[in-house]
Amino acid sequence: MKSTVTLSLACCVSIVAAYNWTWAPAAVSASKEVGNHVAGVPAWTQWFGSSAVADLQQPALAGDVKTCVSSSGTKVWGSSFDDGPSDSTPKLLAYLAAKKIKLTFWVIGYNVLTNADILKQTYQSGHDIGIHTWSHPHLTQLSDDEVIAELVYGARSIYEVLGVWPRYFRPPYGDADGRVRKLAALVGLTSVTWSRDSQDWVYYGNTTALNTVIPANFRGWIGSGTNNDISLEHDFASATVDVGIKVLDMLLTAGYTIKPLSECLGGADPYNNTILTKFFASGLFESKLGPVLTATPTGRLGFGAETGTVRVVVASQAATSSASSVSEWIARVANVAMLLRFV
Ligand SMILES: *[C@@H]1O[C@H](CO)[C@@H](O)[C@H](O)[C@H]1NC(C)=O
Ligand SMILES: *[C@@H]1O[C@H](CO)[C@@H](O)[C@H](O)[C@H]1NC(C)=O
Ligand SMILES: *[C@@H]1O[C@H](CO)[C@@H](O)[C@H](O)[C@H]1NC(C)=O
Ligand SMILES: [Zn+2]
Repeated sequence: MKSTVTLSLACCVSIVAAYNWTWAPAAVSASKEVGNHVAGVPAWTQWFGSSAVADLQQPALAGDVKTCVSSSGTKVWGSSFDDGPSDSTPKLLAYLAAKKIKLTFWVIGYNVLTNADILKQTYQSGHDIGIHTWSHPHLTQLSDDEVIAELVYGARSIYEVLGVWPRYFRPPYGDADGRVRKLAALVGLTSVTWSRDSQDWVYYGNTTALNTVIPANFRGWIGSGTNNDISLEHDFASATVDVGIKVLDMLLTAGYTIKPLSECLGGADPYNNTILTKFFASGLFESKLGPVLTATPTGRLGFGAETGTVRVVVASQAATSSASSVSEWIARVANVAMLLRFV
């Protein structure tokens, strides 16, 4: 009698995404917060302000979106995580998938280079993706062309991986003013900040403090019965992801429904940016390429102490305790020292 042998071919084809980063600006400057393309930044501002885009929808200039207002319900919470994608992001994604929660990730373009597949996984899991600039500068300190370039390169990095052009951006540090919002609107982008700062970015270096202060903040907000908030958290480090999971559990236990930005805005399409679509079809991006990468990027941007690549040295952490917002805090310590250092 013949025996039947069944061959099980567990498949072995791994699909390697072929991302092309030759357009990306060179590695981040060691001492400047103002981005990679300070010298020779492409002069795209004029095009965005010209009649070339006059027929396209520019978002209304109504200040920053700060709350999850268009979502109905008495316990609605818009959660967002900034500064990824990082190698800590997948742990958060696994939790969110298990709990069937969707939220918003504001990604730094330069980090997308090193963690493209994590961004793809995030998007494919159904979370909203928004621009958090190319290199996380204080936008109000940049020239018009530099602001535009930060947004364009940030958008381009997301497009490289996801094939979509985002409509929303979050200014690093919440640092936007009328000029920055106007420039962003020319690029088809609306600024989105937050109403509740978890302060995980302040305490991430001290796990004891992190796991005390951040849950206490959420306990206070939940206890006050607040509704329609958007919270600021970060997925740049495993400690901030861990405490992020902890406070999401607190919100769920308290009966909150967690929403991504698109639902906070009443079902908006977060990717229908017709202005960016037209810009990249114009050929102007390629013709004004800045300096290109000559080596594989090794660094990663963000506050992440654990990455060992970028550190924010905060001279006066005490100033944070009574500051009510990131921008207020920045104003307090601006003259002391806040150095973004690429090491
Ligand atoms: C990558 O993009 C550059 C710039 O657009 C282009 O010149 C080059 O041919 C592309 N490389 C591949 C392998 O597609
Ligand atoms: C970490 O935070 C705890 C609680 O706030 C504090 O007691 C401790 O001194 C901090 N450790 C360091 C190294 O700053
Ligand atoms: C794109 O999104 C904006 C904002 O949600 C909306 O007003 C507009 O109708 C959308 N356009 C398309 C073509 O989906
Ligand atoms: Zn940030």
